[in-house]
Amino acid sequence: MSALRGQFSSRLGFILAAAGSAVGIGNLVGFPVMAAKNGGAAFLVVYLAFVVLVCFPVMLAEIAMGRSAQKNPVGAFYTLSGNSKHWGRVGGLAVATPFMIAVFYSVITVWIMLYLLQSLLGNLDRLAEPAAFGEIVASPSLFWYLFLTMAIVYGILAGGVKDGIEKAAKILMPLLFLMLLCLVIFVMTLDNAEAGVAYYLVPDFSKIDSTVIRSALNQAFFSLSLGMGILITYGSYFSREEKIVNSTRMVAFTDTAVAFFAGLLILPAIFAINPEVDVQALSDSSISLIFSYLPQLFLEMQSFLGYVGASIIATVFFLLVFFAAITSLVSISEIPIAWMVDEKSYSRRKALGVMGVTAGAFIILATMSLGMVGWLSSLITYGGVNKSFFDVIYDLFYDTVLPFIGFLVCIFCSYRWKRSEFINEIGLDDENFSSSLLASYITLSLGTFVPLILLLVFANNVAQIYFGYKLLGF
Ligand code: PHE
Repeated sequence: MSALRGQFSSRLGFILAAAGSAVGIGNLVGFPVMAAKNGGAAFLVVYLAFVVLVCFPVMLAEIAMGRSAQKNPVGAFYTLSGNSKHWGRVGGLAVATPFMIAVFYSVITVWIMLYLLQSLLGNLDRLAEPAAFGEIVASPSLFWYLFLTMAIVYGILAGGVKDGIEKAAKILMPLLFLMLLCLVIFVMTLDNAEAGVAYYLVPDFSKIDSTVIRSALNQAFFSLSLGMGILITYGSYFSREEKIVNSTRMVAFTDTAVAFFAGLLILPAIFAINPEVDVQALSDSSISLIFSYLPQLFLEMQSFLGYVGASIIATVFFLLVFFAAITSLVSISEIPIAWMVDEKSYSRRKALGVMGVTAGAFIILATMSLGMVGWLSSLITYGGVNKSFFDVIYDLFYDTVLPFIGFLVCIFCSYRWKRSEFINEIGLDDENFSSSLLASYITLSLGTFVPLILLLVFANNVAQIYFGYKLLGF
């Protein structure tokens, strides 16, 4: 079985593919908006601390699990626990979650594709109209874009690990960095950009409160693609000759760097266009507000670039986000596929077919739940809010299950899988690793405060989302 298993051809292949998964809509859209509304530099500092102190050990744990077991999440939890059915079920959750996240992520990727094509066609002004977003998400033409997006994602997945995932990442990721850098350099030349740079880089620590802390942790976790079995699966395609710690560091660094530069693009742009901007007005930006806000931001650039110039900048930005979204979507979809190949002995082709049809059905339902079909659009009420099918998936899997799986990964690696084996797997290339400071930190953090923090975030999200009740002032 393991001889047939796909494998990345090199360390760089793994790093680019894992970074391709990590760098996504979360970095390019979510991070800058969250940083803008949560105090700029203060948010950045808290975010960086979480990446280094909390997320990095969890990343190592997931990758080590995958590489040691050479299996998808179900197989990995099951085998490494000495064939425990209960842990196998936890693995099941780590397969179901990416499946459902693929559903809501696909819906958003389809919007990005629509925004990309419409900016390219010169319709930026229409996208910037306040009512545009509501009309777009309820328009049946979305299904064409959905079809195109799925064709691209499944085309890449059909190529397999090396010729599909790795190759796509090797082409798309460098292009993405280049475009991002060009956009940042351009925005820096605008008058008043310095005000945004200062807001983003000079911390005002009095801005750190529980909301900043909670959003920074949620964001860091999602951004690094944690709690979703992705790094377990990608770890299983990672050669045993390679160094886990260095590669993981590169992935975390790349993901954080992209988020950082996206902030350096969006925040100065906001200030350049409106020096008096009231960042608090961005305060409760939901997904729909972000999607109306971005085209407005680009359209306002026409005062110094003309309409065509502003449309070009918007097109490049949406292309960048689209590339990032595609590599993320590929990674999320790979998890259920790996599970079907490993556990159900399906051929890769059959697994792709099953995934395409089932995910496709859910994606269509989720798309229709944003205004096209009444009962799907107001499916259920909880926490005092009426929710659509799309909202339910988002709340249940993004906000609830992710931190919970993260918590279970920590508990598993610390108390179920033999701790010595776990540390050995991480330090396979370095015999002194087990006595290093990093090894002690990983053991300590994963066994104590990291799961505790994740459990708190989980409990808080459950209380707030489903019962409208704020725990611990969060
Ligand atoms: N990390 C990606 C982002 O920041 C999203 C993602 C989540 C990708 C989960 C894969 C899995 O947008």
